[in-house]
Amino acid sequence: MSRTARAHTNIALIKYWGKKDAKLRLPLMSSLSMTLDAFYSETKLTDASEMSFSLNGVKQEGPAASRVFNYLKLMQERFGVSGSLAVESINHVPTAAGLASSSSAFAALAAAFADHYQLDVDRQELSRMARMGSGSASRSIYGGFAVWQKGSSDADSFAYPLVESPKMDLKLLAVELNDQPKKISSTKGMEASKTSPFYQTWLDRNDQELADMEDAIKTGDFTKLGSLAELNASEMHSLTLTAQPGFTYFEPDTIKAIKLVGNLREKGVECYYTIDAGPNVKILCQSQNCKKIINNFETAFERVKIIEAGFGPGISYQD
Ligand code: ADP
Ligand code: DP6
Ligand code: CO
Repeated sequence: MSRTARAHTNIALIKYWGKKDAKLRLPLMSSLSMTLDAFYSETKLTDASEMSFSLNGVKQEGPAASRVFNYLKLMQERFGVSGSLAVESINHVPTAAGLASSSSAFAALAAAFADHYQLDVDRQELSRMARMGSGSASRSIYGGFAVWQKGSSDADSFAYPLVESPKMDLKLLAVELNDQPKKISSTKGMEASKTSPFYQTWLDRNDQELADMEDAIKTGDFTKLGSLAELNASEMHSLTLTAQPGFTYFEPDTIKAIKLVGNLREKGVECYYTIDAGPNVKILCQSQNCKKIINNFETAFERVKIIEAGFGPGISYQD
């Protein structure tokens, strides 16, 4: 019997936004993330007469199914195994809304694949496998803070745990302004962003930003962590705006949320934003301020769902 694999989403504080090899999903930069307890995917594989993929109980066809089938074929070739598989997955996170569903999805799928074929793989190999499904998934193998070192080839591009059970007081408030699937996938958006005149600067800054973020974590410096994460996210979104042709994942409410974070900070409520490939905003704060921030957002936005997240665990299996 196959077991269900569970992986939690992660949110990058130093972001992956650009590939040097699309097929292997080798990145142009290293990234660093926080795994979240509140959001996860669960995936199970069973032998079947033909490949199928169901998500949240609904049979998938089209690009989402092809992505999964292509991934399974790639993994079957890699490990010299075969057979048709039925994939059943449940997302405890909005799909394709910029809340990192692909990170938990492909970490869970890689783990389910390894379990199904009883592959003798360690977490580093599992991270490389997950990377080939979605880059951000390489980091969801681990709990706490993880770093995906860019490496130079398939062999050395994997994530490793930085601190698996952090003691730091750090919370992430996911402000769900819109849970609908985005129009431009992360895969497409990051490729398009390479046409920005600022793209080389983005790459040049990666080593220093990563070192500074690691330092902020090591010293438990929330102010440094938050301001750096906010700057890094803004840099990423400046690439979409300055791409040729330009585009943005922001919606009017995204800007409103950015401004509210600034206002709160001016009033002494320390918080910072980070935003991924979607309109939803994530707020970094400390426990004492969560309630105040949530109240302010609920007052400012008519329809808003705010989910409080802390550090989540790495991969696990359910019987
Ligand atoms: P997100 O911001 O949610 O990570 P992406 O554009 O990176 O958005 O990836 C979303 C895509 O990931 C979906 O369109 C789908 O193809 C794939 N995906 C999401 N959840 C799952 C899942 N549980 N199993 C397999 N594939 C999934
Ligand atoms: C903005 O990992 O979703 O969330 O490798 O093409 O599947 P693919 O992209 P994906 O990109 C994530 C982009 C990001 C930043 C991050 O998670 O590092
Ligand atoms: Co994604």
